[in-house]
Amino acid sequence: MRVLTIIPTYNEIESLPLTLGRLRTAVPSSDVLVVDDGSPDGTGDWADATAAEDPQVHVLHRAEKNGLGGAYIAGFRWALERGYEVLVEMDADGSHQPEQLPRLLEKVPEADLVIGSRRVPGGKMVNWPAHRKLISMCGSLYPRLLLGLNLTDITAGYRAYRASVLQEIDLDAVQSKGYGFQVDMTFRTARLGRRIVEVPITFVERKLGESKMSGGIIGEAVVNVTRWGLQARAAKLRSLLGR
Ligand code: GDD
Ligand code: MN
Repeated sequence: MRVLTIIPTYNEIESLPLTLGRLRTAVPSSDVLVVDDGSPDGTGDWADATAAEDPQVHVLHRAEKNGLGGAYIAGFRWALERGYEVLVEMDADGSHQPEQLPRLLEKVPEADLVIGSRRVPGGKMVNWPAHRKLISMCGSLYPRLLLGLNLTDITAGYRAYRASVLQEIDLDAVQSKGYGFQVDMTFRTARLGRRIVEVPITFVERKLGESKMSGGIIGEAVVNVTRWGLQARAAKLRSLLGR
């Protein structure tokens, strides 16, 4: 299996060196693509210097900060053009432990999308403040109910996709930028009838740098999930009425 781990970065100069080092040790067979959005703190320059030394590390530069979703889509396209078979999503800030990546990869033979879940038995959240837990709980429950997805951690960002799923999805149509991006991709994968499996992970809240989470990102997710849910129901109703 040719595996590429995609790490989106915006101002992660304190975290990226640690995470990348841990990843290269934990899963040396995985190539890495850092997708940096012109970080003013020099994250992109550090990644370039590392890539010059390590042929398995690559860097994609985007001109300006344009959201997690767009960064991943750019990374997916880069990977598909180069024939990678498995595409992993991993945060730079240490929340996704590289040492747990083998757990996700082990499940790829029996799944098209493997989600590292905080909410299946064995899954955990470490150092997460109560308000983030609450947002995350609602963020998982609401799309689960509205979109009819039988999954516990729909916004989760630690994932492994089979390339064939991403080839089948119209990546141009994916507009969501923040957490909504993860929900959007999960919903699209489920509608293709692809197999989605959750494995327990321990999500460790970042100790260095800052989260890019904002009210706007939550708002975008709520509006979009509501819209997708209503659209899906309307489509079902139309087909029931025989049109
Ligand atoms: N290139 C790029 N552009 N990277 C970005 C951007 C952007 O606009 N915004 C965030 N990132 C990178 C960060 O640098 C980090 O590596 C990763 O994306 C996650 O960003 P955080 O700001 O740490 O996100 P979070 O901890 O709030 O959210 C995590 O948990 C969510 C579920 O609760 C992520 O894993 C989300 O994907 C997940 O939905
Ligand atoms: Mn984070």
